Amino acid sequence: MTREIRLNAFHMNAPGHSWPGLWAHPRDASARHDTPEYWTQLARIAERGKLDAVFLADVIGVYDVYGGIPDAAFRAGAQAPTLDPFPVVPLMAAVTEHLGFGVTATLSYERPYLLARRFSTLDHLTRGRMAWNIVTGILDSGAKGAGQAGLGAHDERYAAAEEYLEVVYALWEGSWADDALVQDREARQYIRPDRVRRISHRGAHYDLDAIHLVHPTPQRTPLLFQAGASAAGRNFAGGHAEAVFINGHTRPLVAETVRDLRRRAVARGRQADDVRVFLGASIIVAPTDAEARDRHAEYERWIDYPGSLALLSGWSGIDLSRYGLDEPIRHVTGNAMQSLIEAITTRSPERAWTVRDLAHFGQAGGRGAFLVGSPTTVADELQRWVEEADLDGFNLTRLVFPEGLEAVVDLLVPELQSRGVFKTQYAPGPLRQKLFGAPRLPDRHPAARHRAFGPDR
Ligand SMILES: Cc1cc2nc3c(=O)[nH]c(=O)nc-3n(C[C@H](O)[C@H](O)[C@H](O)COP(=O)(O)O)c2cc1C
Repeated sequence: MTREIRLNAFHMNAPGHSWPGLWAHPRDASARHDTPEYWTQLARIAERGKLDAVFLADVIGVYDVYGGIPDAAFRAGAQAPTLDPFPVVPLMAAVTEHLGFGVTATLSYERPYLLARRFSTLDHLTRGRMAWNIVTGILDSGAKGAGQAGLGAHDERYAAAEEYLEVVYALWEGSWADDALVQDREARQYIRPDRVRRISHRGAHYDLDAIHLVHPTPQRTPLLFQAGASAAGRNFAGGHAEAVFINGHTRPLVAETVRDLRRRAVARGRQADDVRVFLGASIIVAPTDAEARDRHAEYERWIDYPGSLALLSGWSGIDLSRYGLDEPIRHVTGNAMQSLIEAITTRSPERAWTVRDLAHFGQAGGRGAFLVGSPTTVADELQRWVEEADLDGFNLTRLVFPEGLEAVVDLLVPELQSRGVFKTQYAPGPLRQKLFGAPRLPDRHPAARHRAFGPDR
């Protein structure tokens, strides 16, 4: 059987996400991201297309690496203003039944006790449809806003994340038994105290002595997403992530990343397919190849290039204003997304990338696959990516919304369904059950070590 392809809608609670400037397109709605209707419309379209989830990026801080000021990002609305992604989840959940919600939350700025409560609350409210995209921050400006001296060092951020996860796992998996909440009206007893446990943790980065504030949710631990693919990032993902979001512009490069991710999962006591891998993809699909190409050319006119370079500077941690447009970028290091820098330098030895390449509205700039064409053309390409790079699916970057996502849902999804590689109905149950067949983490996942009350009922 040909391999199933999964799709998520990759959005952000900001006007400009991966491709700044499109907000000004006459048919684009993303300037209305601060209204409830924007999110209910997105959720309805995504569920109509049987997408697994809306995946919400979030970045704490402003993009002021480019030229040392945020002006280019601000003019373009490039991930600014940046609203909180959590509150839009219940809006979307209220109008859907199956759609999952992947929310990016930066662990570096928030105590595990509080973040664990927020995810548990939302896992209840969505009936088990929450995923957490675990990130540690990429912008100095955000770290300073959170009262820190600056962004922590790259590998040290991952080390702190390992410890953070142990703490939230203990809260989610080990603090409450499944039968602790009795709600016994006759006995007038709500909770059985003997079935609730205090968690104590003393570590290098976090101390906690507390009972989790929320009773067990359908998934307990939300589905664990991670994005970041340097050696340290892959090692972290291999240990913890159930889904990984990667970028990369060639199939061999992505295939190598995926192979390594699966190998590291096995090295950390898990199975190779315990990790579902999603590649970022910008897809412009139209009834014919020619119409899709026209649409690509039309969208391109709206791309805000300084805004785009402001984002790329923030992502890489390198001030791209210091380079000439055609100057090759080589031998650079940065503290933000090392995997992006590697992808455009040492892991692309065949070609020296320039600032102009990075700014180009196409398959460059560390944003994953860029596919333009008819449903047949795009479906062929997606299948090639999946087969050659061993991928499980794609996170679809927001382009002109809603028409870009509607085209995927109305043209591409039926084509994939007719090839037998895309679901025609959702599987029942919580998000993890839809992806892995069971609502709770398997015993071989490190979170399971924190279970204290025996098998879940
Ligand atoms: C595809 C992709 C998406 C990401 N999305 C976010 C995000 O929404 N918010 C954030 O703070 N960091 C985000 N990151 C940054 C990563 O979480 C990670 O901190 C960073 O890439 C550094 O790790 P690395 O060098 O291992 O890639 C993303 C990274 C990648 C590759």
